[in-house]
Amino acid sequence: MKVAIFGGSFDPVHLDHIKIAKTLVYELCLDKLYIIPTFIAPHKKNMGAVSGEHRLNMLKLAFEGEDKIEVSDYELMKQGVSYSYQTVEHFYDTLKPEKLYFIVGSDMLENFPTWKYPERILDKASLVLVERRNGENQDDKAIIAIKSLYDKGVTTVKVHGETVSSTKLRVYLKLGLSLDGLTDKKVEDYIKSNGLYKGDKYYEYIAKNIPEKRKYHIAGVILTAISLAKKLGADEKKAELSALLHDVAKYENLSNFPNFSLPSETPKDIVHQYLGEYIAKTVLEVLDNEVLTAIKYHTTGRPNMSLLEKIIYVADIIEPSRKFLGVEELRQEIKKDFFKGFKICLEEIVEFLLKTGTEVYPLTLDALNYYKEN
Ligand SMILES: [Fe+2]
Ligand SMILES: [Fe+2]
Repeated sequence: MKVAIFGGSFDPVHLDHIKIAKTLVYELCLDKLYIIPTFIAPHKKNMGAVSGEHRLNMLKLAFEGEDKIEVSDYELMKQGVSYSYQTVEHFYDTLKPEKLYFIVGSDMLENFPTWKYPERILDKASLVLVERRNGENQDDKAIIAIKSLYDKGVTTVKVHGETVSSTKLRVYLKLGLSLDGLTDKKVEDYIKSNGLYKGDKYYEYIAKNIPEKRKYHIAGVILTAISLAKKLGADEKKAELSALLHDVAKYENLSNFPNFSLPSETPKDIVHQYLGEYIAKTVLEVLDNEVLTAIKYHTTGRPNMSLLEKIIYVADIIEPSRKFLGVEELRQEIKKDFFKGFKICLEEIVEFLLKTGTEVYPLTLDALNYYKEN
């Protein structure tokens, strides 16, 4: 019997999980694939996940009718921190399979040597890496490290296509967007009928006051900002909140805010960054000055921007729903070197404004000149 175990938080299960599971069954000629939601992922101790019971129920709905895929409550019942070596030994001892595979993702493989008793996992199971990156293979180093440390190979299974993440699903849900194409319809219905993944008061405000079309842009900015913050060591929560609120004033009328004073000669397209900061502060009671300035300068930029301001400025330009000519090159520059990429964004925006005969806002020119030298 050939068996594989595939663990994760599945918070919630999404279409890529489903695609990966089916691909694994096929590619590895499995008799059974066990999907195992973790009780507490050791590296995510403080993440506010929905209960294990809900995650388990959603997985069962997602894999209903798949006779080679079984959802296991082993780690949830065991409680406490879930260590993979214990799960591997449990499945090995109870099933006595001819072959046991342990499924890992790219990020997990890199850290594998730091796990608890990695050699005990490798003693009973073979590692299978799910390669989700299209084209480029960046996992060779980790595979070579495992080979030299433990003298074990790693099987690679490629799963092509767009990558979805549970974070994306949670953001969509909090913004009140549909999960069409992101997860199984039964899972979406379950989430809705149980009222899971509700947003805080800031998400509620945006969900209620912003048109649907703009919400896709906001979701894109949030996800881009979170991933940049993670990569650059910035505060992910602040990045999420600033991105969520950056366009809060886009559809507001100045006349509704008689106490708000706008800097003189502010062009129409730029008003919303100033008014946005004002609404965040006075209506939504955001007190964090870093978040407030990230909103306040997201369109124009300014000299000497904080890291968070740069993240929001860049995320607004390169988020996935942006389609302008050259955006893909900008994404690549940002990926290669964020700080250099940021300057390129600034330069290209100015170039675009000049080309289209739009007057460049003085603060943007100040920023451009500042970053030529800094
Ligand atoms: Fe904006
Ligand atoms: Fe925006």
